[in-house]
Amino acid sequence: MKKVLVATGQKIIDETIAKFEGYEVVNAVEYKNEVVEACEYFSPDILLLSEGLSGHESLLQIMLQLGMKFPNLRIIYLAGHVDLRDEPKVNALGVLVMAGIYDIIHEKSISVQMLRNILDNPKDAESMSYLTKRVKESTSKANKESLIEIEIPQEKENEEDEDIYKNLHVVSSIKPGTGKSFLSTNVATAIANFGVENKDGKKPRVALIEADLQNLSVGTLLQIEDDKKNLKAVMEKISTIVNENGNFVGTLEQTEEVNTFIKSCFKPFYRVKNLEALVGSQLTFEQIESIKPYYYIYLLDSIAKEYDIVVVDSNSSLTHITTFPLLQMAKSCYYVLNLDFNNVRNNARYKSILKEMGIADKVKYVLNEDIVNDPKESLASGSDIEELIFTADHLDDSDFKLEARVPMLPKTVFLNRLYEGTPVVLDDKKYTLKARYEILKVANQIWPIKNFKEIEEEYLASKDDKKRKGKFFSR
Ligand SMILES: Nc1ncnc2c1ncn2[C@@H]1O[C@H](COP(=O)(O)OP(=O)(O)O)[C@@H](O)[C@H]1O
Ligand SMILES: [Mg+2]
Repeated sequence: MKKVLVATGQKIIDETIAKFEGYEVVNAVEYKNEVVEACEYFSPDILLLSEGLSGHESLLQIMLQLGMKFPNLRIIYLAGHVDLRDEPKVNALGVLVMAGIYDIIHEKSISVQMLRNILDNPKDAESMSYLTKRVKESTSKANKESLIEIEIPQEKENEEDEDIYKNLHVVSSIKPGTGKSFLSTNVATAIANFGVENKDGKKPRVALIEADLQNLSVGTLLQIEDDKKNLKAVMEKISTIVNENGNFVGTLEQTEEVNTFIKSCFKPFYRVKNLEALVGSQLTFEQIESIKPYYYIYLLDSIAKEYDIVVVDSNSSLTHITTFPLLQMAKSCYYVLNLDFNNVRNNARYKSILKEMGIADKVKYVLNEDIVNDPKESLASGSDIEELIFTADHLDDSDFKLEARVPMLPKTVFLNRLYEGTPVVLDDKKYTLKARYEILKVANQIWPIKNFKEIEEEYLASKDDKKRKGKFFSR
């Protein structure tokens, strides 16, 4: 006889289960905030959960909590109807699958047969992989263990969260190609080059990690390339001292050796030597399968103390193995947006998921490739031909408070800096002043920037200047 705790908020479902042979309903819960306690009290084998429960709490967060607290509890989640084209929703379910919650029903309607079927036949990672497949490097093998180290904050109010690294800042976006690598590279360079001295009186030590196993953009932007010492090598090294369940198996000696190796994979940027980058690699999908989320946790843990600031250029997908733990551990998460209306709309929908994951409070937004309807302000944007309808001001008026608006750079400027391996923030050209100022705004939030006021004044003065000239010419 299996013990079932029903928490569906729908009497008819609860009663149906009670009639099934081989299952005993130990209790019925009606409020979301009673679920955890009821699981403690009744120790059910199976928890049947649905969005029909009352309460404002997030079921996603409750389920992730339960998954860690009761590793042997089988959770069956009736998600209600989910359109599989609804990427944010599907990704939220993908997060559950990653956490080992496979028994998810998201059909329009549920029949008695379906209920019976899911009770009798547990689903597995394989059969649910379509929810994480959107990211091709799917984590179909990910299981409960892979998230065991991540604590979901219960009550965050006032309490300092021990799992947060105060010097870790993640740059992310929900779509590739929005400028994560561009922004993270520039922000990290800015802090290293213009940041105030650390408490040892030295330039701040900055690490930049490209958390993407399939791309090489940070390496390209900073002209750092190393076939032997990159993210892939680090991951392989870590796998020698962490076992399948995410537990340490290394001796003290081995651990020290691994840590030394990891440190040696951070390569100084030739222009600003106190910036060190761990660059990505190019792996096939199969190779990525063997990388576990807790490898990243180990990596961060081993190097966070070595640097004043760690900036991570993350992957765009929420269900990507790296993203979830990184967002959890970070002090702040900068999401890069652009003016593509579709992108903005998707971000709006993602907000609720970030909230449910308990990280909305530390998510900040940065607009990249901004275009303003003033040809003198916005270079080579086309606004002299046709005015832009949906602008940054509209974004700011909606739910996105923008920390910075980095302008669209002319192609020539972008390509030249790429060729030179020099982030634009190191520039001294007048025409990149606005971009530098906006990048420094972000950098200054992370670590105080020495010449921030100066650059700000220079920028404001140049704006006034342009206005005056503008008036003069239009006369
Ligand atoms: N501020 C900008 N001005 C002009 N082009 C940009 C800017 N930011 C990004 N781009 C363009 O977008 C491309 C993608 O940027 P990248 O930082 O690699 O995105 P991501 O890391 O999010 O995939 C760049 O190669 C460049 O062509
Ligand atoms: Mg990138």
